[in-house]
Amino acid sequence: MNGLDLTRLPKHIAVIMDGNGRWADGQGLPRILGHRAGAEAVRRIAEAARELGVPALTLYAFSWENWDRPDEEIQALMALLEQFLDSELGTLRKNQIRLRAMGRLDRLPSTVLRHLNQVMADTAHLDQMTLTLALSYGGRQELVDASRRIARLVCEGRLSPEQIDEAVVSRHLYLPDLPDPDLLIRTSGEQRLSNFLLWQISYCELYVTPTLWPAFTKDDLVQAIAAYQQRERRFGKTGAQSPQSAQINGASGRRGGEVGG
Ligand code: FPP
Repeated sequence: MNGLDLTRLPKHIAVIMDGNGRWADGQGLPRILGHRAGAEAVRRIAEAARELGVPALTLYAFSWENWDRPDEEIQALMALLEQFLDSELGTLRKNQIRLRAMGRLDRLPSTVLRHLNQVMADTAHLDQMTLTLALSYGGRQELVDASRRIARLVCEGRLSPEQIDEAVVSRHLYLPDLPDPDLLIRTSGEQRLSNFLLWQISYCELYVTPTLWPAFTKDDLVQAIAAYQQRERRFGKTGAQSPQSAQINGASGRRGGEVGG
Protein backbone atom coordinates (compact mmCIF):
# COMPACT_ATOMS: atom_id res chain seq x y z
CA MET A 1 0.00 0.00 0.00
CA ASN A 2 2.75 2.43 0.97
CA GLY A 3 5.33 0.71 -1.25
CA LEU A 4 7.42 -0.51 1.70
CA ASP A 5 8.66 -4.05 2.11
CA LEU A 6 7.20 -4.72 5.55
CA THR A 7 9.49 -7.72 6.02
CA ARG A 8 12.54 -5.43 5.84
CA LEU A 9 11.61 -2.56 8.13
CA PRO A 10 14.35 -1.02 10.24
CA LYS A 11 14.18 -2.56 13.72
CA HIS A 12 15.14 0.70 15.31
CA ILE A 13 14.78 4.24 13.95
CA ALA A 14 16.45 7.19 15.68
CA VAL A 15 15.48 10.77 14.91
CA ILE A 16 17.23 14.11 15.43
CA MET A 17 14.14 16.32 15.55
CA ASP A 18 15.48 19.63 14.31
CA GLY A 19 13.85 22.77 12.96
CA ASN A 20 11.19 23.71 15.54
CA GLY A 21 12.58 27.24 15.81
CA ARG A 22 12.79 27.74 12.04
CA TRP A 23 9.29 26.38 11.58
CA ALA A 24 7.98 28.90 14.12
CA ASP A 25 9.96 31.74 12.47
CA GLY A 26 8.45 30.80 9.11
CA GLN A 27 4.96 31.07 10.60
CA GLY A 28 5.73 34.33 12.40
CA LEU A 29 5.28 32.57 15.76
CA PRO A 30 7.39 32.50 18.93
CA ARG A 31 9.90 29.62 19.18
CA ILE A 32 7.93 27.89 21.92
CA LEU A 33 5.01 27.37 19.55
CA GLY A 34 7.46 25.64 17.24
CA HIS A 35 8.33 23.29 20.10
CA ARG A 36 4.62 22.76 20.79
CA ALA A 37 4.08 21.80 17.15
CA GLY A 38 7.18 19.60 17.52
CA ALA A 39 5.54 17.78 20.43
CA GLU A 40 2.48 17.10 18.23
CA ALA A 41 4.81 15.68 15.61
CA VAL A 42 6.25 13.37 18.28
CA ARG A 43 2.79 11.90 18.89
CA ARG A 44 2.07 11.68 15.14
CA ILE A 45 5.34 9.95 14.27
CA ALA A 46 5.25 7.57 17.25
CA GLU A 47 1.78 6.44 16.14
CA ALA A 48 2.92 6.19 12.51
CA ALA A 49 5.97 4.09 13.41
CA ARG A 50 3.77 1.81 15.49
CA GLU A 51 1.23 1.45 12.65
CA LEU A 52 4.02 0.56 10.23
CA GLY A 53 5.39 -2.05 12.65
CA VAL A 54 8.73 -0.47 13.56
CA PRO A 55 9.71 -2.06 16.89
CA ALA A 56 11.82 0.79 18.31
CA LEU A 57 11.85 4.56 17.87
CA THR A 58 14.30 6.85 19.68
CA LEU A 59 13.80 10.61 19.61
CA TYR A 60 16.39 13.24 20.56
CA ALA A 61 14.11 15.42 22.67
CA PHE A 62 16.62 17.40 24.76
CA SER A 63 20.38 17.24 24.41
CA TRP A 64 22.99 17.78 27.09
CA GLU A 65 24.02 20.89 25.16
CA ASN A 66 20.42 22.17 25.17
CA TRP A 67 20.95 23.03 28.87
CA ASP A 68 22.95 26.02 27.52
CA ARG A 69 19.84 27.52 25.86
CA PRO A 70 18.17 30.56 27.48
CA ASP A 71 16.48 29.67 30.80
CA GLU A 72 13.11 30.71 29.43
CA GLU A 73 13.33 28.24 26.54
CA ILE A 74 14.55 25.43 28.82
CA GLN A 75 11.62 26.02 31.17
CA ALA A 76 9.19 26.04 28.26
CA LEU A 77 10.62 22.78 26.91
CA MET A 78 10.43 21.15 30.35
CA ALA A 79 6.82 22.31 30.77
CA LEU A 80 6.00 20.90 27.35
CA LEU A 81 7.62 17.61 28.24
CA GLU A 82 5.61 17.39 31.45
CA GLN A 83 2.38 18.15 29.55
CA PHE A 84 3.29 15.56 26.96
CA LEU A 85 3.85 12.92 29.65
CA ASP A 86 0.49 13.79 31.22
CA SER A 87 -1.50 13.84 28.01
CA GLU A 88 0.07 10.95 26.09
CA LEU A 89 -0.25 8.07 28.54
CA GLY A 90 -3.56 7.19 26.86
CA THR A 91 -2.00 7.26 23.39
CA LEU A 92 0.84 5.02 24.57
CA ARG A 93 -1.57 2.55 26.15
CA LYS A 94 -3.91 2.53 23.16
CA ASN A 95 -0.99 1.77 20.86
CA GLN A 96 0.72 -0.64 23.29
CA ILE A 97 3.86 1.51 23.31
CA ARG A 98 6.42 1.32 26.09
CA LEU A 99 8.08 4.61 27.01
CA ARG A 100 11.74 4.65 28.02
CA ALA A 101 14.29 7.41 28.51
CA MET A 102 18.04 7.73 28.19
CA GLY A 103 20.40 10.45 29.34
CA ARG A 104 21.57 12.14 32.52
CA LEU A 105 18.01 12.16 33.82
CA ASP A 106 18.98 13.36 37.30
CA ARG A 107 19.43 16.86 35.88
CA LEU A 108 15.75 17.06 34.87
CA PRO A 109 13.45 19.07 37.17
CA SER A 110 12.08 16.76 39.88
CA THR A 111 8.45 17.14 38.73
CA VAL A 112 9.37 16.13 35.16
CA LEU A 113 11.38 13.19 36.47
CA ARG A 114 8.47 12.08 38.64
CA HIS A 115 6.04 12.17 35.69
CA LEU A 116 8.58 10.42 33.48
CA ASN A 117 9.18 7.63 35.99
CA GLN A 118 5.42 7.20 36.42
CA VAL A 119 4.73 6.90 32.67
CA MET A 120 7.69 4.54 32.22
CA ALA A 121 6.39 2.35 35.05
CA ASP A 122 2.81 2.45 33.70
CA THR A 123 3.92 1.38 30.21
CA ALA A 124 6.75 -1.02 31.15
CA HIS A 125 4.66 -4.07 30.19
CA LEU A 126 3.60 -2.77 26.74
CA ASP A 127 5.38 -4.55 23.95
CA GLN A 128 4.26 -3.44 20.48
CA MET A 129 6.87 -0.68 20.23
CA THR A 130 9.48 0.97 22.42
CA LEU A 131 9.55 4.76 22.29
CA THR A 132 12.73 6.11 23.86
CA LEU A 133 13.16 9.79 24.61
CA ALA A 134 16.78 10.94 24.74
CA LEU A 135 16.61 13.59 27.47
CA SER A 136 19.51 15.55 28.92
CA TYR A 137 21.38 13.21 26.59
CA GLY A 138 24.78 13.42 24.97
CA GLY A 139 26.68 10.63 23.21
CA ARG A 140 30.02 11.67 24.70
CA GLN A 141 28.46 11.98 28.16
CA GLU A 142 27.02 8.47 27.76
CA LEU A 143 30.50 7.13 26.96
CA VAL A 144 31.98 8.98 29.94
CA ASP A 145 29.30 7.49 32.20
CA ALA A 146 29.89 4.01 30.78
CA SER A 147 33.66 4.42 31.30
CA ARG A 148 33.11 5.41 34.92
CA ARG A 149 30.97 2.32 35.57
CA ILE A 150 33.51 0.05 33.92
CA ALA A 151 36.39 1.72 35.83
CA ARG A 152 34.51 1.06 39.08
CA LEU A 153 34.26 -2.66 38.23
CA VAL A 154 37.98 -2.75 37.51
CA CYS A 155 38.77 -0.99 40.82
CA GLU A 156 36.57 -3.49 42.67
CA GLY A 157 38.47 -6.35 41.00
CA ARG A 158 35.36 -7.60 39.19
CA LEU A 159 36.77 -6.99 35.72
CA SER A 160 40.31 -6.87 34.34
CA PRO A 161 41.35 -4.23 31.78
CA GLU A 162 41.98 -7.04 29.27
CA GLN A 163 38.34 -8.12 29.54
CA ILE A 164 37.11 -4.74 28.30
CA ASP A 165 35.92 -5.16 24.74
CA GLU A 166 33.14 -3.71 22.58
CA ALA A 167 30.54 -5.93 24.20
CA VAL A 168 31.51 -4.73 27.70
CA VAL A 169 31.29 -1.07 26.63
CA SER A 170 27.91 -1.71 24.98
CA ARG A 171 26.60 -3.32 28.13
CA HIS A 172 27.37 -0.21 30.16
CA LEU A 173 25.50 2.24 27.97
CA TYR A 174 22.27 3.74 29.33
CA LEU A 175 19.92 1.20 27.68
CA PRO A 176 22.07 -1.82 26.89
CA ASP A 177 19.18 -3.95 25.71
CA LEU A 178 18.08 -1.49 23.01
CA PRO A 179 19.41 -2.64 19.61
CA ASP A 180 21.57 -0.20 17.65
CA PRO A 181 19.55 1.99 15.28
CA ASP A 182 19.41 0.87 11.65
CA LEU A 183 18.24 4.26 10.39
CA LEU A 184 18.98 7.75 11.68
CA ILE A 185 16.73 10.50 10.35
CA ARG A 186 17.65 14.17 10.74
CA THR A 187 15.09 16.82 9.84
CA SER A 188 15.68 20.42 8.71
CA GLY A 189 18.61 19.71 6.42
CA GLU A 190 21.59 20.00 8.76
CA GLN A 191 24.17 17.31 8.05
CA ARG A 192 25.61 16.65 11.49
CA LEU A 193 25.25 14.18 14.33
CA SER A 194 25.05 16.64 17.24
CA ASN A 195 26.41 14.23 19.84
CA PHE A 196 23.58 11.69 19.32
CA LEU A 197 24.11 7.96 20.00
CA LEU A 198 27.76 8.16 18.93
CA TRP A 199 28.59 4.56 19.88
CA GLN A 200 25.37 3.03 18.58
CA ILE A 201 25.34 4.54 15.08
CA SER A 202 28.61 3.12 13.76
CA TYR A 203 26.84 1.27 10.95
CA CYS A 204 23.56 3.13 10.91
CA GLU A 205 22.13 4.45 7.64
CA LEU A 206 21.72 8.23 7.62
CA TYR A 207 18.79 10.06 6.05
CA VAL A 208 18.64 13.86 6.04
CA THR A 209 15.48 15.63 4.93
CA PRO A 210 14.98 19.39 4.52
CA THR A 211 11.51 19.07 6.10
CA LEU A 212 11.33 20.85 9.46
CA TRP A 213 10.36 18.59 12.38
CA PRO A 214 6.92 20.11 13.08
CA ALA A 215 6.00 19.50 9.42
CA PHE A 216 7.29 15.90 9.35
CA THR A 217 4.47 13.49 8.53
CA LYS A 218 3.85 9.77 8.24
CA ASP A 219 4.48 10.10 4.48
CA ASP A 220 7.91 11.57 5.23
CA LEU A 221 8.62 8.64 7.54
CA VAL A 222 7.55 6.19 4.84
CA GLN A 223 9.85 7.99 2.37
CA ALA A 224 12.79 7.73 4.77
CA ILE A 225 12.18 4.01 5.26
CA ALA A 226 11.83 3.53 1.49
CA ALA A 227 15.24 5.21 1.01
CA TYR A 228 16.67 2.93 3.70
CA GLN A 229 15.32 -0.11 1.89
CA GLN A 230 17.24 0.96 -1.22
CA ARG A 231 20.56 0.99 0.63
CA GLU A 232 23.10 -1.79 0.50
CA ARG A 233 24.34 -2.39 4.04
CA ARG A 234 27.76 -3.97 3.99
CA PHE A 235 29.03 -3.55 7.56
CA GLY A 236 32.61 -3.12 6.25
CA LYS A 237 32.46 -6.19 4.00
CA THR A 238 32.45 -6.30 0.20
CA GLY A 239 29.22 -6.29 -1.79
CA ALA A 240 29.83 -9.91 -2.78
CA GLN A 241 30.03 -10.93 0.88
CA SER A 242 26.71 -9.27 1.68
CA PRO A 243 23.88 -11.07 -0.09
CA GLN A 244 20.69 -8.99 -0.44
CA SER A 245 18.85 -11.11 2.11
CA ALA A 246 21.37 -10.21 4.81
CA GLN A 247 21.70 -6.56 3.94
CA ILE A 248 18.83 -4.58 5.31
CA ASN A 249 17.95 -6.89 8.17
CA GLY A 250 21.61 -7.11 9.08
CA ALA A 251 23.72 -6.70 12.18
CA SER A 252 21.65 -4.36 14.29
CA GLY A 253 21.47 -6.64 17.29
CA ARG A 254 24.11 -6.46 19.97
CA ARG A 255 24.79 -7.01 23.61
CA GLY A 256 24.04 -10.02 25.67
CA GLY A 257 23.87 -9.97 29.44
CA GLU A 258 27.04 -9.69 31.53
CA VAL A 259 28.41 -7.62 34.33
CA GLY A 260 25.70 -5.31 35.63
CA GLY A 261 26.05 -1.66 36.53
C1 FPP B 1 15.32 21.39 17.75
O1 FPP B 1 14.63 22.48 17.27
C2 FPP B 1 14.58 20.56 18.68
C3 FPP B 1 14.74 20.53 20.04
C4 FPP B 1 15.53 21.48 20.82
C5 FPP B 1 14.18 19.46 20.85
C6 FPP B 1 12.98 18.75 20.29
C7 FPP B 1 11.79 19.07 21.10
C8 FPP B 1 10.54 18.79 20.73
C9 FPP B 1 10.20 18.05 19.52
C10 FPP B 1 9.37 19.24 21.55
C11 FPP B 1 9.24 18.59 22.88
C12 FPP B 1 9.41 17.13 22.90
C13 FPP B 1 8.62 16.28 23.56
C14 FPP B 1 8.96 14.85 23.63
C15 FPP B 1 7.40 16.73 24.23
P1 FPP B 1 15.39 23.85 17.30
O2 FPP B 1 14.75 24.71 18.32
O3 FPP B 1 16.86 23.64 17.49
O4 FPP B 1 15.12 24.37 15.85
P2 FPP B 1 15.98 25.42 15.03
O5 FPP B 1 17.30 24.78 14.74
O6 FPP B 1 15.15 25.66 13.81
O7 FPP B 1 16.10 26.64 15.91
